[in-house]
Amino acid sequence: MMRLQKFLANAGVASRRAAEKMISEGRVSVNGEIIREMGVQIDEDYDTIEVDGAVVKNNEKKYYIMLNKPVGFVTTVSDDKDRPTVMELVSDISARIYPVGRLDYDTEGLLLLTNDGDLTFKITHPRHDISKTYVAEVTGNITMDTILQLRRGVVVDGQKTSPAEVEVVGATQYGTKVEITIHEGRNRQVRKMFEALGCIVKKLKRTKEAGLTLGHLPLGKWRKLSESEVNMLKKIEAAGEKKSSVPRRQKAYARKNTKRTTAKKQVRKND
Ligand code: URA
Repeated sequence: MMRLQKFLANAGVASRRAAEKMISEGRVSVNGEIIREMGVQIDEDYDTIEVDGAVVKNNEKKYYIMLNKPVGFVTTVSDDKDRPTVMELVSDISARIYPVGRLDYDTEGLLLLTNDGDLTFKITHPRHDISKTYVAEVTGNITMDTILQLRRGVVVDGQKTSPAEVEVVGATQYGTKVEITIHEGRNRQVRKMFEALGCIVKKLKRTKEAGLTLGHLPLGKWRKLSESEVNMLKKIEAAGEKKSSVPRRQKAYARKNTKRTTAKKQVRKND
């Protein structure tokens, strides 16, 4: 048994969030019955799942790709302003892969792409505390006090950022080179954290995410993740699963419910 939105994400129909939207819009049916509730459990071996009337099967091969994104590309599949997208840098993949989260147009570095919607959900969900490391080249006065404030958290868009790991790692023509690891993914967060302290980020590069390291992958190039890297990501998945948003009473019911059932009945029972 698994939740309907998780099944749709696993099958590569959409990311988990987009799948939830499809469900609430009444586009998804289980055994011919339209489902609009979240958290509905299905059995992929027995239940027939349809999206917009087309049967969905979960047999799509999964791809996990790391790209070293250059500046000047948007991290979307298409862009309404016609700017280049990261999809133009990834060729030879026959599945509908998409970027995992965002990296700004003017940021370079490690970007994951996949067609595993469930993994995307877990890596991008704020509750899963996935760490991301950046090297920022910064102008302005970087003092020990600046570093301590960044570590403790600074107010960005009216909300304090969570504690970060911060080290000065060198100096360049642009100023001080600072390595910063954050556990959130707010919009332009690293730039705004420095700006809050009167410093300007001139260059920003993501070097690590979710335990993966960019290493020597050349700028603009991509590679498939190794089996051990994918396995490591799946372990993060398992940790994220513990923090799932399904109400506990519903999960307890799912555990007890060994007989095959459509989720519709189950939701009713839990009402
Ligand atoms: N923080 C930023 O400011 N930009 C990014 O692209 C990522 C994190």
